Amino acid sequence: MHIEVQLCCVSRKGIKIFVNKLIIKYYSILLTLIILVKMSNNISLTEILTEVFEHLEPHELHSCIFVNRQWCKISIPILWRSPFHECNLLRNKWRSLNLLARTCLLCLGDNKRELLMNESIPLPSVPSGQQPIFDYPSLFRVINIEIICTMSDAWVISNKGKCTRSEYCKKVLRKTLIEHLLERAEMIHFINLDEFNIKPIINKNALNLRRLKKIRFSSPTTDRKNSSIDNVSTFSENVSIFSTLINNLQHIIVENHKQHGSFIEYESDTKALAELVRNQGSLKCLEISGYYMNISSIFESLKGKTTTLTKLSLNRVDLNFISQNAINSWISCVNLKSLEIQNCKIVEEIYFNSGQQIFPNLKKLVFVNHVAKFPINFIIQIIKSTNKNLEFIKFELDHLTSVNQLSLINTAIHHCPNLVHLNVDELLNSQLIQILDSFRKLRELKFDTSNEFDNNTFIEFAKHISQTLKYLYINVDYYPFPDTFRMFINNLNDDVNLKVLHISNGAEELRNECREILEKHGIISTRIHSYQPFL
Ligand SMILES: *[C@@H]1O[C@H](CO)[C@@H](O)[C@H](O)[C@H]1NC(C)=O
Ligand SMILES: *[C@@H]1O[C@H](CO)[C@@H](O)[C@H](O)[C@H]1NC(C)=O
Ligand SMILES: *[C@@H]1O[C@H](CO)[C@@H](O)[C@H](O)[C@H]1NC(C)=O
Ligand SMILES: *[C@@H]1O[C@H](CO)[C@@H](O)[C@H](O)[C@H]1NC(C)=O
Ligand SMILES: *[C@@H]1O[C@H](CO)[C@@H](O)[C@H](O)[C@H]1NC(C)=O
Ligand SMILES: *[C@@H]1O[C@H](CO)[C@@H](O)[C@H](O)[C@H]1NC(C)=O
Repeated sequence: MHIEVQLCCVSRKGIKIFVNKLIIKYYSILLTLIILVKMSNNISLTEILTEVFEHLEPHELHSCIFVNRQWCKISIPILWRSPFHECNLLRNKWRSLNLLARTCLLCLGDNKRELLMNESIPLPSVPSGQQPIFDYPSLFRVINIEIICTMSDAWVISNKGKCTRSEYCKKVLRKTLIEHLLERAEMIHFINLDEFNIKPIINKNALNLRRLKKIRFSSPTTDRKNSSIDNVSTFSENVSIFSTLINNLQHIIVENHKQHGSFIEYESDTKALAELVRNQGSLKCLEISGYYMNISSIFESLKGKTTTLTKLSLNRVDLNFISQNAINSWISCVNLKSLEIQNCKIVEEIYFNSGQQIFPNLKKLVFVNHVAKFPINFIIQIIKSTNKNLEFIKFELDHLTSVNQLSLINTAIHHCPNLVHLNVDELLNSQLIQILDSFRKLRELKFDTSNEFDNNTFIEFAKHISQTLKYLYINVDYYPFPDTFRMFINNLNDDVNLKVLHISNGAEELRNECREILEKHGIISTRIHSYQPFL
């Protein structure tokens, strides 16, 4: 009844918002919804079904195919957006890849069919009149090159008897299928370029890439210039191909796995990447990993992205070479909401002009530092500049002195009243209590205890847990005893909403007796998936 009242007065936009909130599990509700919408509005049935189907789980959507022609026509395009992803998740991965290969082969045009037949690659047989109803490849939105390769291999291997030169067959089939999928998939918005020689294929299909939103480059460990059959390009050539073709990317991921590249190689890699970044008019996310060299030029290319860039993630990047120009471009990205700096190298402090609002909109800050010293003032300056907007902090700081640790946590306490998630690798007892008392919106707290953590601290801790805290993950050296658990529970305030308390010493399980004490109080003691914003 509640649904009825709401639906009668919603607009087209309202319905979207409403359905978004509704988790439809029962078809009766779905049907009622459709009838109500038809009665109350001029929204077409197709529109409302599409909106509803978007929110179903794949297995639920799958049953919709069999309802009638209209339902089938609406659900198939949604189901086939990212078939590779689904295949990967299924238990019988090999079999599903094989079936997927079969479907793709059935959708090939005559020319490509003939080409494969000429190469003696076996094609699936279909009784006449049973060709696929849909052109499935045209529905794909995500193309994962690596999985297309695995899928091709699966087909060749399961038809082993018919392919005499199986390595050669795999190669031809991979190329043909990738080419075909790129030709057909007008809607693709993500290409995952994992070590496949895309160069000869990509230029032909340039037009189809205009909608591309996301791209991931993953370099091999060394440039392999020699290849007898393929015309293999270098990493920077690969990146350059895309900078000339696309200017609408929102998300760029680059993972460099080269260990021993020459300086020249590195330099051309960074140059190519800088060019790619510069050419994108509305870049939102940039994730770079594995650049232990001067990446100033990449940062400099962020200059035009002052309003669009919302996420920057740096992993294993050397920030020692960073030029003042690069810093200026970086901090001009005032809309940055998420900044992750993990295992980067930097020895010198980075200073901004005092009083400068660096990242006033920052909501998520991740700072993981196992490798070397890191300029702590730099991080403190960032926290201070966030205008109290920070909601998510993760710190792992192996090499931090206790003085620096204190000042870092203190800065957070004073400048982040809106914090929702805090994950710190080591906290002192006094800091624990201070954190619980200061962050009044905290929903999730993860920490490692220091060696002074004892039964009494645990019991005292309970008194400070606020109404908002739902998830608590504690790594301890020694488990508190069952009596301590009882006292912990007794000390909780009446209005506490704690859902999960996961305590672990990394070795044995928590004793059943302790689990039961928590469960009796409605608290789960296993780790469950929780709050993860701004991913
Ligand atoms: C297949 O082989 C035939 C005979 O050699 C040739 O005429 C035809 O062009 C080939 N087709 C393709 C697509 O390569
Ligand atoms: C360039 O891309 C091709 C596939 O597009 C790949 O085979 C090659 O390994 C890549 N080269 C580098 C150095 O990343
Ligand atoms: C690459 O090719 C050159 C010349 O053809 C040859 O000398 C070299 O050994 C090859 N390198 C590899 C890794 O195959
Ligand atoms: C490799 O590509 C170049 C052009 O980029 C072309 O001239 C050459 O013939 C190609 N080599 C092979 C073996 O395909
Ligand atoms: C790093 O690169 C930038 C721009 O490409 C350049 O201006 C700077 O001199 C380089 N720094 C070092 C230490 O090589
Ligand atoms: C907690 O108290 C028990 C006795 O109840 C003691 O054996 C244990 O060592 C204490 N653990 C810590 C970490 O203080």
